[in-house]
Amino acid sequence: MSKLVIDGNKVLNGVITASGAKNSALPIIVASALAEEESLLRNVPHGTDVETICSILSSLGAKVSWDGPGQLRVNGAGLKKSKAPYELVRKMRASFYVAGMLLGRLGEAVVPLPGGCSIGSRPVDFHIKGFEALGADVTLEHGSMKARAKRLTGSKYYVSRASVGATVNTMLAAVLADGTTVLENAAREPEVVDLANLLSAMGAKIRGAGMDVIRIEGVDRLHGTEHEIIPDRIEVGSYLILGAMVGGEVVVENAMGEHLRSVLASLEAIGVKIKESTTAIQVSRPDKLAPLNIVTQQYPGFPTDLQAPFSVLLTQADGVSTVRETIFDGRFKYVDELRRMGADIQVERDTAIITGPAELAGAPVEATDLRGGMALVIGALSAQGRSEIIGLEHIDRGYENLEQKLQNLGASVKRFRANAVRS
Ligand code: UD1
Repeated sequence: MSKLVIDGNKVLNGVITASGAKNSALPIIVASALAEEESLLRNVPHGTDVETICSILSSLGAKVSWDGPGQLRVNGAGLKKSKAPYELVRKMRASFYVAGMLLGRLGEAVVPLPGGCSIGSRPVDFHIKGFEALGADVTLEHGSMKARAKRLTGSKYYVSRASVGATVNTMLAAVLADGTTVLENAAREPEVVDLANLLSAMGAKIRGAGMDVIRIEGVDRLHGTEHEIIPDRIEVGSYLILGAMVGGEVVVENAMGEHLRSVLASLEAIGVKIKESTTAIQVSRPDKLAPLNIVTQQYPGFPTDLQAPFSVLLTQADGVSTVRETIFDGRFKYVDELRRMGADIQVERDTAIITGPAELAGAPVEATDLRGGMALVIGALSAQGRSEIIGLEHIDRGYENLEQKLQNLGASVKRFRANAVRS
Protein backbone atom coordinates (compact mmCIF):
# COMPACT_ATOMS: atom_id res chain seq x y z
CA MET A 1 0.00 0.00 0.00
CA SER A 2 1.42 3.42 -0.96
CA LYS A 3 1.67 5.99 1.77
CA LEU A 4 2.67 9.59 2.41
CA VAL A 5 5.00 10.12 5.31
CA ILE A 6 4.80 13.63 6.71
CA ASP A 7 6.90 15.15 9.47
CA GLY A 8 4.76 18.05 10.60
CA ASN A 9 4.93 21.26 12.57
CA LYS A 10 7.27 23.06 10.16
CA VAL A 11 6.52 26.65 9.14
CA LEU A 12 5.93 26.66 5.37
CA ASN A 13 6.83 29.54 3.09
CA GLY A 14 6.92 30.11 -0.62
CA VAL A 15 4.99 29.82 -3.86
CA ILE A 16 2.70 27.05 -5.15
CA THR A 17 1.31 27.07 -8.67
CA ALA A 18 -2.20 25.67 -8.87
CA SER A 19 -3.18 23.35 -11.72
CA GLY A 20 -6.18 23.58 -14.02
CA ALA A 21 -9.56 22.73 -12.53
CA LYS A 22 -10.31 19.00 -12.43
CA ASN A 23 -14.04 19.66 -12.32
CA SER A 24 -13.77 21.80 -15.47
CA ALA A 25 -11.41 19.45 -17.25
CA LEU A 26 -13.70 16.42 -16.91
CA PRO A 27 -16.77 17.88 -18.69
CA ILE A 28 -14.59 19.85 -21.11
CA ILE A 29 -12.68 16.76 -22.25
CA VAL A 30 -16.01 14.98 -22.77
CA ALA A 31 -17.50 18.00 -24.58
CA SER A 32 -14.53 18.13 -26.95
CA ALA A 33 -15.58 14.71 -28.27
CA LEU A 34 -18.87 16.23 -29.50
CA ALA A 35 -16.97 17.50 -32.58
CA GLU A 36 -15.61 15.44 -35.44
CA GLU A 37 -12.53 17.65 -35.35
CA GLU A 38 -9.60 18.01 -33.01
CA SER A 39 -9.62 20.38 -30.04
CA LEU A 40 -6.53 21.42 -28.12
CA LEU A 41 -7.03 21.88 -24.38
CA ARG A 42 -4.51 23.71 -22.19
CA ASN A 43 -3.95 23.81 -18.43
CA VAL A 44 -5.36 20.27 -18.10
CA PRO A 45 -4.47 18.72 -14.71
CA HIS A 46 -3.03 15.22 -14.76
CA GLY A 47 -4.80 13.43 -11.91
CA THR A 48 -6.29 9.94 -12.07
CA ASP A 49 -9.85 11.24 -12.68
CA VAL A 50 -8.63 12.93 -15.87
CA GLU A 51 -6.85 9.73 -16.89
CA THR A 52 -10.09 7.80 -16.35
CA ILE A 53 -12.19 10.11 -18.51
CA CYS A 54 -9.53 9.96 -21.26
CA SER A 55 -9.60 6.15 -21.15
CA ILE A 56 -13.39 6.10 -21.38
CA LEU A 57 -13.38 8.40 -24.42
CA SER A 58 -10.69 6.27 -26.10
CA SER A 59 -12.76 3.13 -25.45
CA LEU A 60 -15.68 4.81 -27.27
CA GLY A 61 -13.52 5.50 -30.33
CA ALA A 62 -12.45 9.12 -29.74
CA LYS A 63 -8.78 10.05 -30.10
CA VAL A 64 -7.22 11.48 -26.96
CA SER A 65 -3.51 12.25 -26.59
CA TRP A 66 -1.24 14.33 -24.37
CA ASP A 67 0.82 16.89 -26.24
CA GLY A 68 3.19 18.16 -23.57
CA PRO A 69 2.49 19.08 -19.95
CA GLY A 70 -1.10 20.20 -19.45
CA GLN A 71 -1.92 19.99 -23.16
CA LEU A 72 -4.47 17.48 -24.35
CA ARG A 73 -5.74 16.84 -27.87
CA VAL A 74 -9.24 15.38 -28.23
CA ASN A 75 -10.88 14.39 -31.49
CA GLY A 76 -14.38 12.89 -31.60
CA ALA A 77 -14.25 11.92 -35.31
CA GLY A 78 -13.89 8.21 -34.55
CA LEU A 79 -16.56 8.14 -31.84
CA LYS A 80 -18.72 5.14 -32.80
CA LYS A 81 -19.55 3.18 -29.66
CA SER A 82 -22.43 4.23 -27.45
CA LYS A 83 -21.76 1.80 -24.61
CA ALA A 84 -19.36 2.93 -21.86
CA PRO A 85 -17.36 0.18 -20.10
CA TYR A 86 -18.36 -0.57 -16.50
CA GLU A 87 -14.80 -1.19 -15.28
CA LEU A 88 -13.84 2.41 -16.14
CA VAL A 89 -17.13 4.17 -15.34
CA ARG A 90 -17.26 2.63 -11.85
CA LYS A 91 -14.04 4.46 -10.89
CA MET A 92 -15.56 7.92 -10.95
CA ARG A 93 -19.02 9.44 -10.90
CA ALA A 94 -18.22 12.18 -13.40
CA SER A 95 -17.87 9.39 -15.99
CA PHE A 96 -21.62 9.73 -16.31
CA TYR A 97 -20.98 12.91 -18.33
CA VAL A 98 -20.38 10.71 -21.36
CA ALA A 99 -24.13 9.95 -21.30
CA GLY A 100 -25.15 13.49 -22.38
CA MET A 101 -22.36 13.65 -24.95
CA LEU A 102 -23.21 10.24 -26.50
CA LEU A 103 -26.90 11.02 -26.58
CA GLY A 104 -26.31 14.33 -28.35
CA ARG A 105 -23.72 12.98 -30.74
CA LEU A 106 -24.91 9.41 -31.51
CA GLY A 107 -28.54 9.48 -30.37
CA GLU A 108 -27.86 6.62 -27.98
CA ALA A 109 -26.05 6.14 -24.67
CA VAL A 110 -25.64 3.01 -22.58
CA VAL A 111 -23.81 4.01 -19.40
CA PRO A 112 -23.55 2.06 -16.14
CA LEU A 113 -25.20 3.85 -13.23
CA PRO A 114 -22.59 5.17 -10.82
CA GLY A 115 -22.56 3.21 -7.58
CA GLY A 116 -22.26 4.38 -4.00
CA CYS A 117 -19.87 7.10 -3.01
CA SER A 118 -17.95 7.67 0.18
CA ILE A 119 -19.20 11.25 0.60
CA GLY A 120 -22.86 10.24 0.56
CA SER A 121 -25.58 9.02 -1.76
CA ARG A 122 -25.22 10.61 -5.16
CA PRO A 123 -27.99 9.50 -7.50
CA VAL A 124 -28.22 10.63 -11.14
CA ASP A 125 -32.00 11.01 -11.30
CA PHE A 126 -31.74 14.73 -12.13
CA HIS A 127 -29.45 13.93 -15.07
CA ILE A 128 -31.91 11.34 -16.37
CA LYS A 129 -34.86 13.73 -16.01
CA GLY A 130 -32.88 16.21 -18.11
CA PHE A 131 -32.42 13.66 -20.91
CA GLU A 132 -36.12 12.80 -20.75
CA ALA A 133 -37.04 16.49 -20.89
CA LEU A 134 -35.13 16.61 -24.20
CA GLY A 135 -37.24 13.73 -25.53
CA ALA A 136 -34.95 10.77 -24.85
CA ASP A 137 -36.45 7.41 -24.09
CA VAL A 138 -34.64 6.22 -20.96
CA THR A 139 -34.71 2.74 -19.42
CA LEU A 140 -32.65 1.19 -16.65
CA GLU A 141 -31.42 -2.30 -17.53
CA HIS A 142 -28.92 -4.53 -15.76
CA GLY A 143 -27.41 -1.67 -13.80
CA SER A 144 -27.04 0.62 -16.80
CA MET A 145 -28.94 3.59 -18.13
CA LYS A 146 -30.03 3.15 -21.72
CA ALA A 147 -31.11 6.40 -23.40
CA ARG A 148 -32.22 6.78 -27.01
CA ALA A 149 -33.55 9.58 -29.18
CA LYS A 150 -33.49 9.94 -32.96
CA ARG A 151 -32.86 13.63 -32.42
CA LEU A 152 -33.20 15.37 -29.10
CA THR A 153 -35.63 18.26 -28.96
CA GLY A 154 -34.98 21.46 -27.01
CA SER A 155 -37.23 21.99 -24.03
CA LYS A 156 -37.55 23.67 -20.62
CA TYR A 157 -35.94 21.85 -17.70
CA TYR A 158 -35.89 22.90 -14.05
CA VAL A 159 -32.70 21.48 -12.50
CA SER A 160 -33.43 20.20 -8.98
CA ARG A 161 -31.03 21.42 -6.28
CA ALA A 162 -29.11 23.36 -8.94
CA SER A 163 -27.11 20.17 -9.49
CA VAL A 164 -23.73 20.73 -11.15
CA GLY A 165 -23.71 17.27 -12.75
CA ALA A 166 -27.27 17.50 -14.08
CA THR A 167 -26.64 21.00 -15.47
CA VAL A 168 -23.48 19.81 -17.25
CA ASN A 169 -25.00 16.60 -18.62
CA THR A 170 -28.13 18.33 -19.93
CA MET A 171 -25.96 21.02 -21.56
CA LEU A 172 -23.84 18.34 -23.25
CA ALA A 173 -26.98 16.75 -24.68
CA ALA A 174 -28.76 20.01 -25.58
CA VAL A 175 -26.06 21.68 -27.70
CA LEU A 176 -26.77 19.32 -30.63
CA ALA A 177 -30.56 19.11 -30.03
CA ASP A 178 -33.21 20.44 -32.33
CA GLY A 179 -34.47 23.79 -31.02
CA THR A 180 -33.93 25.72 -27.82
CA THR A 181 -33.37 24.31 -24.33
CA VAL A 182 -33.88 26.47 -21.26
CA LEU A 183 -32.28 25.25 -18.03
CA GLU A 184 -33.85 26.84 -14.99
CA ASN A 185 -32.26 26.74 -11.53
CA ALA A 186 -29.02 25.80 -13.33
CA ALA A 187 -25.77 25.44 -11.38
CA ARG A 188 -23.74 28.68 -11.43
CA GLU A 189 -20.34 27.15 -10.67
CA PRO A 190 -17.34 28.60 -12.57
CA GLU A 191 -16.79 25.13 -14.06
CA VAL A 192 -20.21 25.36 -15.77
CA VAL A 193 -19.19 28.72 -17.24
CA ASP A 194 -15.87 27.26 -18.39
CA LEU A 195 -17.72 24.42 -20.13
CA ALA A 196 -20.09 26.91 -21.78
CA ASN A 197 -17.10 28.96 -23.00
CA LEU A 198 -15.54 25.87 -24.57
CA LEU A 199 -18.82 24.84 -26.20
CA SER A 200 -19.39 28.37 -27.54
CA ALA A 201 -15.88 28.34 -29.02
CA MET A 202 -16.86 25.05 -30.72
CA GLY A 203 -19.85 26.76 -32.33
CA ALA A 204 -22.60 26.13 -29.76
CA LYS A 205 -25.12 28.86 -29.00
CA ILE A 206 -25.31 29.31 -25.23
CA ARG A 207 -26.41 32.28 -23.17
CA GLY A 208 -26.67 32.77 -19.43
CA ALA A 209 -24.00 30.37 -18.11
CA GLY A 210 -23.07 31.58 -14.62
CA MET A 211 -26.65 32.61 -13.96
CA ASP A 212 -29.52 30.39 -12.96
CA VAL A 213 -31.15 30.38 -16.39
CA ILE A 214 -29.11 28.99 -19.28
CA ARG A 215 -30.48 29.12 -22.81
CA ILE A 216 -29.07 26.75 -25.42
CA GLU A 217 -30.02 26.96 -29.08
CA GLY A 218 -29.18 23.63 -30.69
CA VAL A 219 -26.85 23.54 -33.71
CA ASP A 220 -26.25 20.81 -36.31
CA ARG A 221 -22.57 20.33 -35.64
CA LEU A 222 -19.67 21.60 -33.60
CA HIS A 223 -16.08 22.17 -34.68
CA GLY A 224 -12.67 21.86 -33.01
CA THR A 225 -11.17 24.71 -31.01
CA GLU A 226 -8.46 25.66 -28.51
CA HIS A 227 -9.31 26.30 -24.90
CA GLU A 228 -7.49 26.99 -21.64
CA ILE A 229 -9.06 25.50 -18.52
CA ILE A 230 -9.60 27.79 -15.52
CA PRO A 231 -7.47 27.40 -12.38
CA ASP A 232 -8.68 24.84 -9.85
CA ARG A 233 -10.43 26.94 -7.20
CA ILE A 234 -10.61 23.96 -4.84
CA GLU A 235 -6.89 23.25 -5.13
CA VAL A 236 -6.16 26.97 -4.66
CA GLY A 237 -8.45 27.06 -1.63
CA SER A 238 -6.81 23.94 -0.17
CA TYR A 239 -3.34 25.50 -0.33
CA LEU A 240 -4.57 28.83 1.05
CA ILE A 241 -6.05 26.96 4.01
CA LEU A 242 -2.75 25.12 4.41
CA GLY A 243 -0.91 28.46 4.38
CA ALA A 244 -3.31 29.85 6.96
CA MET A 245 -2.64 26.81 9.13
CA VAL A 246 1.16 26.46 8.87
CA GLY A 247 2.46 29.58 7.07
CA GLY A 248 4.69 31.73 7.19
CA GLU A 249 3.64 33.31 4.01
CA VAL A 250 2.26 31.16 1.24
CA VAL A 251 1.47 32.46 -2.23
CA VAL A 252 -0.73 30.48 -4.61
CA GLU A 253 -0.22 31.37 -8.26
CA ASN A 254 -2.59 30.62 -11.16
CA ALA A 255 -5.43 31.58 -8.81
CA MET A 256 -8.63 33.49 -9.50
CA GLY A 257 -9.82 35.16 -6.29
CA GLU A 258 -13.21 35.94 -7.82
CA HIS A 259 -14.00 32.20 -7.79
CA LEU A 260 -13.22 31.96 -4.06
CA ARG A 261 -14.97 34.97 -2.51
CA SER A 262 -16.80 33.03 0.20
CA VAL A 263 -13.62 31.17 1.20
CA LEU A 264 -11.47 34.31 1.24
CA ALA A 265 -14.13 36.08 3.31
CA SER A 266 -14.17 33.15 5.75
CA LEU A 267 -10.38 33.18 6.02
CA GLU A 268 -10.42 36.92 6.71
CA ALA A 269 -13.21 36.47 9.25
CA ILE A 270 -11.00 34.20 11.36
CA GLY A 271 -8.08 36.61 11.15
CA VAL A 272 -6.01 35.34 8.21
CA LYS A 273 -4.30 38.12 6.25
CA ILE A 274 -4.85 37.97 2.50
CA LYS A 275 -3.21 39.85 -0.36
CA GLU A 276 -4.60 39.40 -3.82
CA SER A 277 -3.40 40.22 -7.32
CA THR A 278 -5.10 39.27 -10.59
CA THR A 279 -3.41 35.86 -10.76
CA ALA A 280 -2.08 35.16 -7.27
CA ILE A 281 -3.26 35.10 -3.66
CA GLN A 282 -1.05 35.32 -0.59
CA VAL A 283 -2.02 34.24 2.93
CA SER A 284 -0.20 34.74 6.17
CA ARG A 285 -1.14 33.28 9.49
CA PRO A 286 -1.89 35.55 12.45
CA ASP A 287 -0.91 34.60 16.02
CA LYS A 288 -4.49 33.73 16.89
CA LEU A 289 -7.40 32.42 14.81
CA ALA A 290 -11.00 33.27 15.66
CA PRO A 291 -13.76 30.64 15.52
CA LEU A 292 -16.43 30.75 12.80
CA ASN A 293 -19.76 29.21 11.78
CA ILE A 294 -19.85 27.93 8.20
CA VAL A 295 -22.63 26.48 6.04
CA THR A 296 -21.78 24.82 2.71
CA GLN A 297 -23.85 26.00 -0.22
CA GLN A 298 -23.97 25.99 -3.99
CA TYR A 299 -21.75 28.54 -5.70
CA PRO A 300 -21.14 31.35 -4.82
CA GLY A 301 -21.66 30.04 -1.28
CA PHE A 302 -19.00 28.20 0.71
CA PRO A 303 -18.00 25.13 -1.38
CA THR A 304 -18.65 21.68 0.05
CA ASP A 305 -15.31 20.60 -1.46
CA LEU A 306 -13.47 22.87 1.00
CA GLN A 307 -15.55 21.88 4.02
CA ALA A 308 -13.06 19.26 5.22
CA PRO A 309 -9.88 21.34 4.70
CA PHE A 310 -11.46 24.37 6.41
CA SER A 311 -12.65 22.25 9.33
CA VAL A 312 -9.04 21.23 10.02
CA LEU A 313 -8.05 24.88 10.08
CA LEU A 314 -10.83 25.59 12.58
CA THR A 315 -9.32 23.04 15.00
CA GLN A 316 -6.70 25.78 15.56
CA ALA A 317 -9.21 28.57 16.21
CA ASP A 318 -9.60 29.88 19.72
CA GLY A 319 -13.12 28.76 20.68
CA VAL A 320 -16.04 26.79 19.25
CA SER A 321 -16.77 26.72 15.51
CA THR A 322 -19.58 24.96 13.65
CA VAL A 323 -19.52 23.62 10.09
CA ARG A 324 -22.83 22.60 8.55
CA GLU A 325 -22.79 20.40 5.43
CA THR A 326 -25.89 20.86 3.27
CA ILE A 327 -24.81 19.34 -0.07
CA PHE A 328 -23.67 15.76 0.68
CA ASP A 329 -24.91 13.56 3.50
CA GLY A 330 -21.75 11.58 4.26
CA ARG A 331 -19.02 14.15 4.16
CA PHE A 332 -17.67 13.92 7.72
CA LYS A 333 -15.87 10.57 7.43
CA TYR A 334 -12.46 12.24 7.80
CA VAL A 335 -13.45 13.50 11.26
CA ASP A 336 -12.73 10.17 12.99
CA GLU A 337 -9.22 10.20 11.56
CA LEU A 338 -8.66 13.82 12.62
CA ARG A 339 -9.81 12.95 16.11
CA ARG A 340 -7.10 10.31 16.23
CA MET A 341 -4.66 13.18 15.63
CA GLY A 342 -6.09 15.01 18.64
CA ALA A 343 -8.80 17.21 17.09
CA ASP A 344 -11.83 17.97 19.25
CA ILE A 345 -14.72 17.57 16.80
CA GLN A 346 -18.22 16.28 17.50
CA VAL A 347 -20.58 15.55 14.63
CA GLU A 348 -24.30 16.00 15.21
CA ARG A 349 -26.34 15.14 12.12
CA ASP A 350 -25.21 17.57 9.42
CA THR A 351 -23.03 19.72 11.67
CA ALA A 352 -19.49 19.40 12.99
CA ILE A 353 -18.80 21.21 16.25
CA ILE A 354 -15.12 22.02 16.51
CA THR A 355 -13.44 23.17 19.69
CA GLY A 356 -10.01 24.69 19.49
CA PRO A 357 -7.22 25.25 19.66
CA ALA A 358 -6.26 21.57 19.63
CA GLU A 359 -2.71 20.32 19.69
CA LEU A 360 -2.53 17.90 16.78
CA ALA A 361 -0.14 14.98 17.00
CA GLY A 362 1.06 12.89 14.04
CA ALA A 363 -0.64 9.52 13.59
CA PRO A 364 -1.22 6.82 10.99
CA VAL A 365 -4.45 7.82 9.20
CA GLU A 366 -6.48 6.72 6.17
CA ALA A 367 -8.01 8.96 3.51
CA THR A 368 -11.47 7.78 2.45
CA ASP A 369 -12.30 10.51 -0.08
CA LEU A 370 -10.53 13.19 -2.11
CA ARG A 371 -11.11 16.34 -0.05
CA GLY A 372 -11.21 14.55 3.30
CA GLY A 373 -7.82 13.16 2.29
CA MET A 374 -6.46 16.66 1.71
CA ALA A 375 -7.78 17.65 5.13
CA LEU A 376 -5.64 14.88 6.63
CA VAL A 377 -2.59 16.10 4.69
CA ILE A 378 -3.10 19.62 6.06
CA GLY A 379 -3.63 18.24 9.56
CA ALA A 380 -0.45 16.15 9.29
CA LEU A 381 1.59 19.14 8.11
CA SER A 382 0.60 21.10 11.20
CA ALA A 383 0.79 18.19 13.68
CA GLN A 384 3.70 17.56 16.01
CA GLY A 385 5.64 14.49 14.85
CA ARG A 386 5.21 11.96 12.07
CA SER A 387 2.01 10.98 10.24
CA GLU A 388 1.56 8.21 7.69
CA ILE A 389 -1.35 8.65 5.33
CA ILE A 390 -2.79 5.77 3.30
CA GLY A 391 -5.70 5.80 0.85
CA LEU A 392 -3.67 7.98 -1.52
CA GLU A 393 -5.71 6.82 -4.52
CA HIS A 394 -8.42 9.23 -3.33
CA ILE A 395 -6.07 12.22 -3.03
CA ASP A 396 -4.39 11.44 -6.37
CA ARG A 397 -7.75 11.87 -8.16
CA GLY A 398 -7.50 15.63 -7.86
CA TYR A 399 -4.18 16.96 -6.53
CA GLU A 400 -1.50 17.01 -9.20
CA ASN A 401 2.17 16.80 -8.04
CA LEU A 402 1.11 17.04 -4.41
CA GLU A 403 4.41 16.11 -2.74
CA GLN A 404 6.45 18.27 -5.08
CA LYS A 405 4.26 21.31 -4.50
CA LEU A 406 4.42 20.83 -0.73
CA GLN A 407 8.18 20.22 -0.76
CA ASN A 408 8.60 23.53 -2.61
CA LEU A 409 7.14 25.21 0.49
CA GLY A 410 9.66 23.44 2.72
CA ALA A 411 7.41 20.61 3.90
CA SER A 412 8.82 17.23 4.85
CA VAL A 413 6.64 14.94 2.71
CA LYS A 414 7.70 11.67 1.15
CA ARG A 415 5.75 9.10 -0.82
CA PHE A 416 6.54 5.44 -0.44
CA ARG A 417 5.10 3.45 -3.32
CA ALA A 418 3.48 0.08 -2.78
CA ASN A 419 6.34 -2.03 -4.20
CA ALA A 420 9.03 0.15 -2.65
CA VAL A 421 7.38 -0.31 0.74
CA ARG A 422 7.39 -4.09 0.33
CA SER A 423 11.05 -4.29 -0.64
C1 UD1 B 1 -19.99 18.31 -8.38
C2 UD1 B 1 -18.49 18.27 -8.19
C3 UD1 B 1 -18.16 18.01 -6.73
C4 UD1 B 1 -18.85 19.04 -5.85
C5 UD1 B 1 -20.35 19.10 -6.16
C6 UD1 B 1 -21.05 20.22 -5.43
C7 UD1 B 1 -17.64 17.47 -10.30
C8 UD1 B 1 -17.04 16.36 -11.07
N1 UD1 B 1 -17.95 17.22 -9.01
O1 UD1 B 1 -20.51 17.03 -8.02
O2 UD1 B 1 -16.76 18.09 -6.56
O3 UD1 B 1 -18.69 18.67 -4.50
O4 UD1 B 1 -20.55 19.33 -7.57
O5 UD1 B 1 -20.45 21.43 -5.70
O6 UD1 B 1 -17.81 18.57 -10.79
N2 UD1 B 1 -28.22 14.95 -6.63
C9 UD1 B 1 -29.31 14.10 -6.73
N3 UD1 B 1 -29.63 13.61 -7.98
C10 UD1 B 1 -28.88 13.90 -9.09
C11 UD1 B 1 -27.76 14.76 -8.96
C12 UD1 B 1 -27.46 15.27 -7.71
O7 UD1 B 1 -30.00 13.82 -5.75
O8 UD1 B 1 -29.22 13.42 -10.17
C13 UD1 B 1 -27.88 15.52 -5.30
C14 UD1 B 1 -26.50 15.06 -4.81
O9 UD1 B 1 -26.58 13.81 -4.14
C15 UD1 B 1 -26.11 16.20 -3.90
C16 UD1 B 1 -26.72 17.44 -4.59
O10 UD1 B 1 -27.76 16.92 -5.44
O11 UD1 B 1 -26.70 16.02 -2.64
C17 UD1 B 1 -25.76 18.26 -5.43
O12 UD1 B 1 -25.02 17.40 -6.27
P1 UD1 B 1 -24.35 17.92 -7.63
O13 UD1 B 1 -24.33 19.41 -7.66
O14 UD1 B 1 -24.98 17.21 -8.76
O15 UD1 B 1 -22.86 17.41 -7.45
P2 UD1 B 1 -21.96 16.61 -8.49
O16 UD1 B 1 -22.21 17.12 -9.86
O17 UD1 B 1 -22.11 15.16 -8.23
